[in-house]
This record gives sequence, C-alpha cells and structure tokens, in this order.
Amino acid sequence: MGGVPGRDFLAKINLPMILDNYHRPVLLPQVIELLKIKKGGSYIDATVGFGGYALEIIKRKGYVLGIDKDEFPLRILKERKIANLDLYHGNYADLTVIAAKKGISCVDGIIFDFGLSSYQIEQSNRGFSFQKNEPLDMRFDQRSALKAVDIVNKYQAEELYEIFTKYSEELYSRSIAEAIVRTRTLKGDIKTSEKLRETILAGIKNVKGVNKNSVLARIFQAIRIKVNSDLINIEKGLPQAASLLRECGRLTVISYHSLEDRLVKKFMKQTARNKELLIITRSPVIPDYQEIRENSSSRSAKLRVAEKL
Ligand SMILES: C[S@@+](CC[C@H](N)C(=O)[O-])C[C@H]1O[C@@H](n2cnc3c(N)ncnc32)[C@H](O)[C@@H]1O
Repeated sequence: MGGVPGRDFLAKINLPMILDNYHRPVLLPQVIELLKIKKGGSYIDATVGFGGYALEIIKRKGYVLGIDKDEFPLRILKERKIANLDLYHGNYADLTVIAAKKGISCVDGIIFDFGLSSYQIEQSNRGFSFQKNEPLDMRFDQRSALKAVDIVNKYQAEELYEIFTKYSEELYSRSIAEAIVRTRTLKGDIKTSEKLRETILAGIKNVKGVNKNSVLARIFQAIRIKVNSDLINIEKGLPQAASLLRECGRLTVISYHSLEDRLVKKFMKQTARNKELLIITRSPVIPDYQEIRENSSSRSAKLRVAEKL
C-alpha cells in the first residue's frame, strides 16, 4: 500500500527524531534572518512539513499558520499541541481561501519550501525514490486521485514523452517513454519504483557516457511534478501570497530545480515591475559548503526573497 509508513517507524516517531534524522530545514538561519520576524507578527508556512521554519518563528514569539498537502507531518505536529501554531491540510494553490477560513486577511511573512521532505523520500513508502522498491504512488496528498502508477501504465507514449520533456527536460525522453510502453505491453503493469527504474534503464541501455542516476532522478522528478501538479500550484500560490502580505511583509521562497526557480524569478521580476514587491535577493541565496556536506539534499536549493511595497 502506498503512503503508509512502517509500523516500527510510527511506534518510534517523535518530532526531534524526525528533524534530526529525516528532515533538516534548508538555509534555516538565512530564511529566519531574511523574514525579519516581528514579536507578535503572523506568518504562513505554506509547506510546513515537520515545522522546521515554523518552530523557529514561534520561538521568536510569532504566530504561524502551517499548511501542507501531506497529512502525516501535520499529525505529528498536532500531537505536540504547540501554542501559536495552527495547521491546515491543504494545497497552497488555495492560499487565500485557506487563510480566510482561519480568519487571516494579511500576514507579515510567507514561506514556501518547495519539493519534498527527506521523510517523504526515505520513509513514506510512496515510491518517490528510484533507490527504493516501493509502490508507485508519489502523491503528497493521499486524497488526490492521480497516482504515479496511473501515469506510467495508462498514458500513451506521446503523453509520457511530453511529461518527461516538459518537467525534466530529459534528452532521452522519447526512448524512455517507448521503453515504458513496450515493457507494460510485454510484461504487464509497472507497479513499483524498482520496476520503473529497470524500465528507464532499459530505455537508455544503448546510450554511452550518460549519468544514469541523473536520468533516473529527472524522470522520477517529472512524474512527481505531474502527479502533484507542482508547477501549476506554484503559479497559483505565489500571487495569492503576494496579496496576503501586509506592507513590508516578506515572501521567502526556496526552490530545488530550475523549473521551479524560473517561475519564482519570473514572478518576482513581474511584481517588482508592477511595484507590488521589492526584490531583496538580487541573486539567490545558496547553501554553503558546510551545509551541503551535512545535508546533501540542500545542494540545489535557491532562496529568493521579496518584500511587499
Ligand atoms: C521540502 S518539504 C518542506 C519541509 C519543511 N519546511 C520542514 O521544515 O519540515 C516540502 C513540503 O511541501 C509539501 N507540499 C508540496 N506541495 C504542496 C502544496 N501544493 N501545498 C501544500 N504543501 C505542499 C510537501 O508535502 C512537503 O511536506
């Protein structure tokens, strides 16, 4: 079954253990400094996960509304009954509606930390990683209908090709899409991340000098983006965030690949031209050598910050 962490894991779980072992918030001191947190201020963490940033804001006497598509980390946070932290299971593409439901019309700062948490990769059993053998689910929100297994087994070669080129810019998208269709026709449905991994490798078996892990990572990323409508959500969420900010309120956004970062950059430039936001980070803030050494998943992070005019 997808989306169900192991029983042993659930029995042992607690928040400090998760933060130490499964998820370290990326660029934490930089995000906190650039947010310019005010005592008594209110903030939205649109991708709260296990609350890495939210808990730091609360320590500095701010209130946080934390939103996440994945119910599991919210459950863990809720159990801790943290004062000044409100939680909502939903999609930041509905930011204005969610804020209104919580009686919020404007805030002092908003955080987006795109992508997926280390818990989701390592422990969620949803097939996010090509290094594991898990059911092909890849949904952040277990209530959504579309799973990775549906895309891989029901979409035509041309549709797969489009997803791979659009969401991973993979050079070998055509042969990989064809390998998927061939495998499922000859051998039956591709139901696990391991089977998908083998099939992708079969699609590039005649290609010389390619980094196979990079191809696998890109194709898995493309399927995850399609399953979760990630880029569509970003395009919907950012303008709503900008309108929810009060004057001098700050928008902080961390992206992990060029497709996300391009959208953030474009949005910030556009709003700067319209005099809605002032760009604070002329070039993105990136993790230093020490952070990348301690947390390799931070290596591609880019933080961009803008302030409401
Ligand atoms: C990189 S993790 C965030 C980790 C978090 N900052 C922390 O410190 O634990 C990204 C989170 O965003 C959530 N997410 C992805 N797309 C979302 C969306 N459209 N709306 C709300 N949450 C989303 C994922 O479920 C995941 O928990």
